[in-house]
Amino acid sequence: MVVVSGLRRNFITDYDSLADRWWDPRGPLAPLGWIARARADFVPVPRNEQAMLLDVACGGGLFGPHLVGKGYRVIGVDLSAASLCEARHHGFHAVAQADIVALPFADESFDVVTAGQCLEHVPDPFAVVGELCRVLRPGGTLIVDTIADTRAARLVSITIAENLPVPGRPPRGTHDHRLFVNRARLIRVARAHGVELQLLGVRPHFGDGIRFLARRLEEVRMVRTKSTAVLFLGVGTKW
Ligand SMILES: C[S@@+](CC[C@H](N)C(=O)[O-])C[C@H]1O[C@@H](n2cnc3c(N)ncnc32)[C@H](O)[C@@H]1O
Repeated sequence: MVVVSGLRRNFITDYDSLADRWWDPRGPLAPLGWIARARADFVPVPRNEQAMLLDVACGGGLFGPHLVGKGYRVIGVDLSAASLCEARHHGFHAVAQADIVALPFADESFDVVTAGQCLEHVPDPFAVVGELCRVLRPGGTLIVDTIADTRAARLVSITIAENLPVPGRPPRGTHDHRLFVNRARLIRVARAHGVELQLLGVRPHFGDGIRFLARRLEEVRMVRTKSTAVLFLGVGTKW
């Protein structure tokens, strides 16, 4: 366990208190919905009719609608009870209140495991990656998205994103740059647990962003970038 002193402690209660804002398209959690749509592109066709997908730190279930009709039984886990109440209404077959550091599932239980925008909120993201890989079946797909431990990410995700007076702005203090994730180590840890991750960068579509701010668009598309230095996805198969 990595101990980082001085980190904000009541993070989960923040999500409890924001639970009625998960689905507000102009609210502080709106960008998570845009990223959820981008993540869905990497969910494979299920291998059989019993295929199981685990979405860890599922929050209010923003990923759920993108999984409807894909053929998975979808399970969500989060520590925020109020957020899980929301997730229940949005495409999740079952939810559980649990810490992603110690998932309450047997080894090799899931065909797909997704972890959206949560590794950058936990003190030891690499222990979480170990858990994600543990519950993934051989041949299964791991999909993570998070924020890189770079100066560029600190500038974009904290200095700019948390301070601009615009819709979709996360509350100040949402991110602590000391928790941002080292990409090389993420790849190494996933590999050590049997998953070869490929990383790819994503960012909001600039034109959509302007139309969103001008209230001419409800949702901003995410597009791929060559650089993984700010927001990135990691996708891999367990051997
Ligand atoms: C930024 S939100 C992302 C939610 C969701 N994955 C999405 O992309 O919309 C982070 C989520 O992680 C959850 N979370 C943070 N630490 C956690 C932990 N140790 N165990 C379970 N959930 C956790 C929070 O409650 C919150 O719902």
